This record gives sequence, structure tokens and C-alpha cells, in this order.
Amino acid sequence: MRLNRLLVSFVLVTLSIYAQLAEADVPPEVPNLAKSKKDRQKSEKLPPCRACTVLVNSFRDGMKRTERSKHDGGDAAWEEERLGSYKTSELRLVEIQESLCRDVGRGEDQCHLLAEEHESQIEDWWKEHQTAQPDLHQWLCVEQAQVCCPDGFFGPNCDPCPSCFGNGKCKGNGTRKGNGKCACEEGYGGDNCDSCGPEHYKSFRDTDKLLCSKCHKACAAGGCTGAGPNACRVCRSGWIMDSQRGGCTDIDECITANTCTKQQFCVNTEGSFNCLECDKSCDACDGDGPDMCKECADGFELRDGLCTVISKDESSESSSDTAELDAAPSESTESTEDTEPTKEEL
Ligand SMILES: *[C@@H]1O[C@H](CO)[C@@H](O)[C@H](O)[C@H]1NC(C)=O
Repeated sequence: MRLNRLLVSFVLVTLSIYAQLAEADVPPEVPNLAKSKKDRQKSEKLPPCRACTVLVNSFRDGMKRTERSKHDGGDAAWEEERLGSYKTSELRLVEIQESLCRDVGRGEDQCHLLAEEHESQIEDWWKEHQTAQPDLHQWLCVEQAQVCCPDGFFGPNCDPCPSCFGNGKCKGNGTRKGNGKCACEEGYGGDNCDSCGPEHYKSFRDTDKLLCSKCHKACAAGGCTGAGPNACRVCRSGWIMDSQRGGCTDIDECITANTCTKQQFCVNTEGSFNCLECDKSCDACDGDGPDMCKECADGFELRDGLCTVISKDESSESSSDTAELDAAPSESTESTEDTEPTKEEL
């Protein structure tokens, strides 16, 4: 028994030590929500070409910041010689690198790592290649790191992108990734975005430009041959094919299928209709306003063609009558018949 108890407590102690160790091993994870947006962007991992481009852009910003005007005055020739040496000087490189990747936002941490990784290459470019090859992006990201391609090229071997006819983007454009296929803009289709997508028609075309426009809203799926409701192949619901004129004509649902309630009036719209509430003085109407009533609402009477509030003494009289009427049936069910004539008298 005693031995057993000893064993149990030993196991428990061991477990608790393990638990503590496990906790200490993993640093307390700060939940993503608690991190600020800025911190999240900073630690974001970008795709390789994008990351290299961020680094190069930050370097270029540094170059701009350390640029010194040639027109500050002084001896022009001496100035030029001094600036010429400064332009590619170690001093300037250090100045640029001091704030490299600072405040780039997305991928800042990655930028610092990459800057370290490529430090000697950047230095090499700065000292040896800057004049002959002024484009750092081409030199570093395309040629040295081989993570990007020049604009208009894609994939591991930097194959040329299709043109996508100016109506789409080449997948992987400018990077070592992607398949070079066109991702067409809305309304365009085909492998090279050189045809119109569904429910679009060709509004302009020459050898190197194609413009597609959306079919008229009267046209259903199936598209159209051109602009306007007359060019539809099939009409959308709410429209009907006019066999004589050839095209889609709006259906006036207010005539054909008025589903508004008695206290509403119907307004036809293109392809549909709306039910709007009558003026509060109407119980039925043909349109908006107190002059469009077909019947007056309770408490209103027709006066000079308008439903008008029934004047005070009359309405107070009628309301006291109504109160009596309401009270009557509750006294006895038999009295219902008795109250009927009273109602007619009103
Ligand atoms: C490729 O990218 C460049 C630069 O962003 C752009 O000018 C060009 O139109 C793009 N080409 C295609 C086909 O996406």
C-alpha cells in the first residue's frame, strides 16, 4: 500500500515537472489577433521574386535619399569629381544599408534576412557593376538570385509571355513561377484573351486591339450580337421577344401580372416592376399622392377630389360610436344581430 502511494506521488511529480518543462520549451504564443496589423505585415512571407523586389526598391529609395544635388553651387568641376567619387563610395553604401528594409511594411523581416544573404553580391554590384548595369533588379533578382524574370517573361527559364491582347495578365509575368497562361479580364476569353466572354459582344476590333462590352440587361445567358435590347439572342425574364421588331421588349407587369396589394400602386420598370405604398389618405390608388386615391382611407373623406381628414367634431362622434360598437359583441354573442343595423346607420 505505502509503496503504491509512493509510486503514485512519484509519477505525479514527474508529470508536473514534464508539463512545466514543456511549457517552458514553447514560448507563449502571442495570438494573431493580439498582434498589430503592422507586426503581421512585417512577418509576412512574400514569394521569392516579390521579396527580392521589395529589397531592391528599398535600396533604390536609399539611393534617392543619399543623392546629392550637383547644383548646390561651388566649383562645378571640383564638385563633379567629389560627387563622382561619392556616387560609388563605401560611405554612401553604408548610409544606404543602414536603413535598408526599414519600414517596407509587408515582408520587412524577410527583407532583412535577404539583405544579409545577398550582402556581398550587393556590395559587388555597388563597386563593380553599377555603372555598366545600373538596373539592380535585373542584376540581383533576375541574374544573381534568379528569382525573377524580366517583365513579360515567366517560369524557371524566363520564357516569353503571350500578349494576352492587352485584356489579361500572363500568369507568372516577371517571376520564375507561373505557367504563362493568360488570366483574362472580365468579359474576355480564349487562350490569348482575343475573344469575348459570355454575355459580351465585340464592340471594337483591329489587328492588336479587341474591346468587348456587356450585352444589354434585357439579354439572357446566350448573349447578343451587339448593343441594345434588339441584339439579344434570348430575352431575360421580364422581357419578351418581339417577333416583328426582333428584339427584347420590356413586359409591363403592372398590366399583365399586377401583384401589388390594395394599398399599393404598381410602377413598371425595365425588366421588372415595383409596388409602392399609396398616400396615407388613400385606401386604394392609381399613383402617389392624395390626389391619386381611388378610395379614401378610414378617417378621410372625399372633398374637392382629395381625400381629406374628416373634421374634428364629426370624427370624435364616429370614434365614440365605434367604441360602443366594439364593446357591444363582448356583452353577449346573441347581440351580434342587434348591432348590425347600427353599423348600417353609420
Ligand atoms: C507583364 O508585366 C509588365 C509589367 O508589369 C506589364 O507591362 C505587361 O503588360 C505584362 N504582360 C502581361 C502579358 O501580363
